[in-house]
Amino acid sequence: MLFCFSCENESINKYVATPSKLSIPKLFEDNILAPIIPVDNPQTIEGVALGKKLFFDSILSVNNTQACADCHAPENAFTDSDRFSDGVDGILGNRNSMPLFNLAWNYDEKFFWDGNTFSLEHQAFVPVTDPIEMKSTWTEVEQKLEQHPEYPLLFEKAFGTSKIDSTLVTKAIAQFERTLISANSKFDRFLLGEGELTPQELNGFNVFMDETKGDCFHCHGSDKNPLWTDNIFHNNGLDETFTDLGLGAVTGDPADNGKFKSPSLRNLAFTAPYMHDGRFTTIEDVINHYSEGLKNSSTIDPLMKKVAQGGVGLSDKDKVDLKAFLLSLSDHDFVKNN
Ligand code: HEC
Ligand code: HEC
Repeated sequence: MLFCFSCENESINKYVATPSKLSIPKLFEDNILAPIIPVDNPQTIEGVALGKKLFFDSILSVNNTQACADCHAPENAFTDSDRFSDGVDGILGNRNSMPLFNLAWNYDEKFFWDGNTFSLEHQAFVPVTDPIEMKSTWTEVEQKLEQHPEYPLLFEKAFGTSKIDSTLVTKAIAQFERTLISANSKFDRFLLGEGELTPQELNGFNVFMDETKGDCFHCHGSDKNPLWTDNIFHNNGLDETFTDLGLGAVTGDPADNGKFKSPSLRNLAFTAPYMHDGRFTTIEDVINHYSEGLKNSSTIDPLMKKVAQGGVGLSDKDKVDLKAFLLSLSDHDFVKNN
């Protein structure tokens, strides 16, 4: 919206962005707390639109070849299908890209596999200058955006200023990321009374919830936690010794070595490969890990109760059913809509 604040002086025109509300799914409203929206970065229609344009624009990278969306593609629930994503120079990182959805409900606001960045706004600073990602500098990005035929006006509409700086870039991207909400899986519709599950999916859900079977729900949510993650850091028994210390490298506390954030189990149909280093190609591999592949170490989570036996020891039928249930958490509309 354009307002004239001084009617004698027409040059003092100022844009004021239009507030926009996140559309909060009913299951979230009924079961979990409100999303985190910082007071100094309210959602607006113009801010979200600008953030979306920036997210898909390779202008943020050093040689205009890489956008956020190259490693966070809509059809992959905003991750990619590589084990390690390559940056502008084709150099591979050592972590699997993460899917992006329901990020406004990460209440501790610790982002990355090891939680090393606080808040979405701060996170968005990182890839632009990361030497193995977009490898640019903020001065260069700000200059390119200011010289661009469209961006100055879009920033003015979103933030009331055409003076483009990194803070505004990250604010716009964070606003867009908060709109990436996934809550329309087959299982969601079942919980809302709008659809049925197959007997196989229902048994898989029981395996997931049963402490004598899969025992997965402590870390990965349940029908009472529609995020399908606790957003907390655990060692789920992948290794005896750690090449990547995870949370331990961030806190400096050896008791945190080998701990990584529990990922949401929504949208697994689109997000392979799995784990922080993408070591598992299929959901079967993951299930076999928990069933008989656990590795003991000093920081393994106490919830990995059956590590001495190698894991929870599921029957072949329970494994197949658990996979069917996990796939019922995938939201096919989410990957089409963006
Ligand atoms: C070269 C590939 C690549 C590019 C480009 C990239 N990312 Fe990422 N992104 C990753 C990887 C890999 C991780 C996990 C990193 C880690 O845990 O150390 C990640 C993690 C994230 C997370 C954390 C999600 C969570 O749940 O904790 C967010 C948010 C994110 N990226 C947003 C962005 C934005 C915004 C951009 C563009 C400014 C971007 N990424 C560009 C690969 C990339
Ligand atoms: C102690 C907490 C805990 C329990 C219990 C647990 N997990 Fe996990 N899960 C994690 C953590 C932490 C990760 C990420 C580990 C990593 O990458 O280093 C993970 C990763 C996964 C992934 C990979 C997702 C992705 O996007 O990469 C799947 C799938 C998964 N778990 C399914 C299950 C199933 C099924 C069960 C029950 C058989 C289960 N988990 C039990 C903590 C747990």
